[in-house]
Amino acid sequence: ATSVPADDRVPDMEKRKLLNLLLLGALSLPTGWMLVPYGSFFAPPGSGGGGGGTVAKDAFGNDVIADQWLKDHGPGDRTLTQGLKGDPTYLVVEKDRTLATYGINAVCTHLGCVVPWNTAENKFLCPCHGSQYNDQGRVVRGPAPLSLALAHCDIDDGKVLFVPWTETDFRTGDAPWWA
Ligand code: FES
Repeated sequence: ATSVPADDRVPDMEKRKLLNLLLLGALSLPTGWMLVPYGSFFAPPGSGGGGGGTVAKDAFGNDVIADQWLKDHGPGDRTLTQGLKGDPTYLVVEKDRTLATYGINAVCTHLGCVVPWNTAENKFLCPCHGSQYNDQGRVVRGPAPLSLALAHCDIDDGKVLFVPWTETDFRTGDAPWWA
């Protein structure tokens, strides 16, 4: 090994420290950036950290854009979209022209027919065996044994997002039978 004059050592050490800092910076910055998409992939916004959400799709299979939907659908409207697990799910427009924070799963709890909304009766009326549900999907006449399932309805980046409903059913005060 060649001996280095003492005068040159100090600058060399300073240089090495500087290089180490630059190297650390180069390594850690991209890692930090990558954490953002990585994290959001597993916890989509609006999911509340729980299970994943699904963007509502209209009859043509397009993502439902909240603003556009509210232009096309007036107060009290209940129109089917494709929701969680592909289930037909009603988007509800409230009287104040906002989207309800819940969607109503249209699958009848009797034998699974898709239940149409009847504006005149202000109820969901099942054509198969006559079950009836009120405007929030609470069962009011059998043979259906249970109310229609709920999903949370959020707006994420302008799109309508359904998120699994695992909390108390606000219509009955009961635990959700579907969760
Ligand atoms: Fe709806 Fe039987 S499937 S009443």
